[in-house]
Amino acid sequence: MVMNRVKTGIEGLDELIQGGIPEGSCVLISGGAGTGKTIFSMQFIYNGAAMYNEPGVYVSIETNLKNIIWNMENFNWDIRDLQEKNLMKIYRLNIGYAKTREEVQQRVDEELNTISQLVKDMNAKRLVIDSVTAFGIWFESPALVRSLLFEFADRLKNLGCTTLLTTETRGGRREFSAFGVEEFVSDGVIALYFTPPHRSIFVKKMRGTNHSKIPHPFEITDRGIVVNPHDRVLWESIK
Ligand SMILES: Nc1ncnc2c1ncn2[C@@H]1O[C@H](COP(=O)(O)OP(=O)(O)OP(=O)(O)O)[C@@H](O)[C@H]1O
Ligand SMILES: [Mg+2]
Repeated sequence: MVMNRVKTGIEGLDELIQGGIPEGSCVLISGGAGTGKTIFSMQFIYNGAAMYNEPGVYVSIETNLKNIIWNMENFNWDIRDLQEKNLMKIYRLNIGYAKTREEVQQRVDEELNTISQLVKDMNAKRLVIDSVTAFGIWFESPALVRSLLFEFADRLKNLGCTTLLTTETRGGRREFSAFGVEEFVSDGVIALYFTPPHRSIFVKKMRGTNHSKIPHPFEITDRGIVVNPHDRVLWESIK
């Protein structure tokens, strides 16, 4: 059986993963603050809609949706047109206030139902949750956060989309998640690093495909993220 690939359309990236993300995967985009996780995941949705005619849903925990739109328009991405054509939808995840396990469960169920409905209505092929780190505010116990994330990722996988989850790390080169569970519930992990002034990207894991095993330099330009697949970054230079 030939595996279908979902092209990120990010310059220089798809060739590091044999043409694209295996269809239906759930891939973690990890990195410290300001490493480019939001731009990466926006670009995945935008390119899907603009280049491949694949509808996508971008779920953000950003309280101010204007920031997202401002960010996208900054790259001259005409998202208004794509939204009108139902090729793209931005949804704000309302995690709100919840205290008990039951309340949290109910909030998560409600949000998952809304996301599922959006995916069905648009026939979405791509989905982004930016970020899952915010889930941590509900529980002090890491064990509870883990079980919640585990279930969340599992239910997202059932939607049939190719999904990106972003997670914020403290930035170390050996750290790939905030709660230590995201990397295990994902089919793939792409790490972003920023050691000023240099940015690098590393495919740590990608189930079902061969992939580059070294960090590569990338830049954030006025066209978004551009990876240089022919160059390598030494691990020692990544802080
Ligand atoms: N037009 C641009 N040209 C060059 N670099 C830019 C541009 N816009 C944003 N950046 C860079 O991208 C960074 C922000 O990237 P992004 O928001 O994707 O990071 P993030 O990993 O999502 O951060 P956070 O953890 O805060 O959510 C900025 O700090 C800036 O360095
Ligand atoms: Mg972000």
